[in-house]
Amino acid sequence: SIPLLVDCDTGIDDAIALTYLAAHPGAEIAGIVSTGGNVEVGAVHRNNLVLNELLGVDAPIARGAERPLVQEPMYADDTHGPGGLGHAVLPDPTRTGDARTGAQLWVDLARQRPGELVGLVLGPHTNLALALEIEPELPRLLRRLHVMGGAIHHRGNTGPTSEWNIAVDPEAAQRVLTAFSTAARRPVLGSLEATESVRFTQGTFDRVSALEAGTGHPVAGILADALRFYFEFHEADGFGWTAHVHDPLVAAHAVTGDFAGTRPLAVDVELAGTLTRGQTVGDELGRWGRAPNVEVLTDVRPQEFIEHLLATLESGLSR
Ligand code: BDR
Ligand code: CA
Repeated sequence: SIPLLVDCDTGIDDAIALTYLAAHPGAEIAGIVSTGGNVEVGAVHRNNLVLNELLGVDAPIARGAERPLVQEPMYADDTHGPGGLGHAVLPDPTRTGDARTGAQLWVDLARQRPGELVGLVLGPHTNLALALEIEPELPRLLRRLHVMGGAIHHRGNTGPTSEWNIAVDPEAAQRVLTAFSTAARRPVLGSLEATESVRFTQGTFDRVSALEAGTGHPVAGILADALRFYFEFHEADGFGWTAHVHDPLVAAHAVTGDFAGTRPLAVDVELAGTLTRGQTVGDELGRWGRAPNVEVLTDVRPQEFIEHLLATLESGLSR
């Protein structure tokens, strides 16, 4: 199975991605870094500790940096709820986290398993950028990097042209993309163009709710309560009764290589723009004359993916 280091800002869709990875026989969660983003880092860490304890995941979970590299922190409790998991009320964790920093966990796990570990970033890039300061060889030590982030065609979900995971810490994202341009395999970037095609419906919601009744698994109840909040947020935001579920698609593609294609592209992060800071600019026509530095997810098959996700959750949480 594929060993993954998951760096996330749990978060409703992060929680679904973690549950999917815990349930998928082809994935091994080798470590988790809690990164501030959807909610502050302490709340993210608590969510990660509790969820993984309930899921039976026995991997080190390290708390990341308190704040982004340069700009002030921002949080999305309107989207994810005050604690990050919508209406869900979590028990207290009985486990404590790993004593290392998030950056150090990236470095240690990558050095322990050179060429094996797959990095999966489902939140801002702060801790991976800090890890690169400790170990500049990370792009060569990791087997591959998969990232949920960016809006290549300039329709953001945070600023008019910026996507959340990049907008929270643009300098970190820029450093990571630059450093990984020398990796043997280009990072895979799941931008909003790909992830917004995954739209949960009432039918999807009902399958998740049925999981709670069917399995009695405490995580099923947490996901249902979290998702209800996520639907309410999307409705209030003008999208109707649906939810854009971003992170699980990128997680599933990292594990299976399925449900989407990829295409090479040169992408960079705008840091200076007064209107467009945090935008991921894709050089579609090769104007820069730079080699592509990422593989962008494309041609998503959302229905197949949603069916796979639900089936994996159903079998994983029934065990
Ligand atoms: C990303 O932002 C977060 O709110 C989600 O968890 C996802 O990682 C989508 O822009
Ligand atoms: Ca996330």
